[in-house]
Amino acid sequence: MNTAAPSQDPAARIERRWAIVSVGIVTLMVFLATFAGVQKATLPQPRLELVDPRTLHIEGEFIESNLGSAIEPDGSVTVRVVGQQYSFTPQCIVVPADTPVTFRGASADVVHGFLVQNTNVNLMLVPGYVTSLSTRFAKPMESHMPCHEFCGTGHEGMWANVHVVDKARFLALTQQQKRVSCVAK
Ligand code: CUA
Repeated sequence: MNTAAPSQDPAARIERRWAIVSVGIVTLMVFLATFAGVQKATLPQPRLELVDPRTLHIEGEFIESNLGSAIEPDGSVTVRVVGQQYSFTPQCIVVPADTPVTFRGASADVVHGFLVQNTNVNLMLVPGYVTSLSTRFAKPMESHMPCHEFCGTGHEGMWANVHVVDKARFLALTQQQKRVSCVAK
């Protein structure tokens, strides 16, 4: 307790100075939080696409015949994948090297992980939403795609193969069918 005039009491002066500093810090933090919130709310959300997990296999983009890799008119490749307890469809994904590749994934049930090992593809399949990411694989390689989000008792058995092949080989595959995968038939 100090009732003396602040100008005369060094302790009160220092106390007041620190009070001003702490109020200043709180004010700055409130400002930053407000700014971040407002800025985020005004940003477009281009990736927020909805999809109904209950009808995924019946209609729309993620029906089984539309899954796998397909060449777009601009030469890029779109890969459509569905994750469900406890597998990915298709089980083996084939994509060309040195080509823009866009993954579009959806979950038929719960949250699954979507990770192509040794690449920067690391996503989550969240039921109700389309997950998408564009990337490019520099050169041919083999990779695995384990589900890395715990999704139930069969989680550790949920994974797919990824084959990055050279462009010519991929183009040859697409001559035979519109949607390609490397699932052994
Ligand atoms: Cu699917 Cu873990």
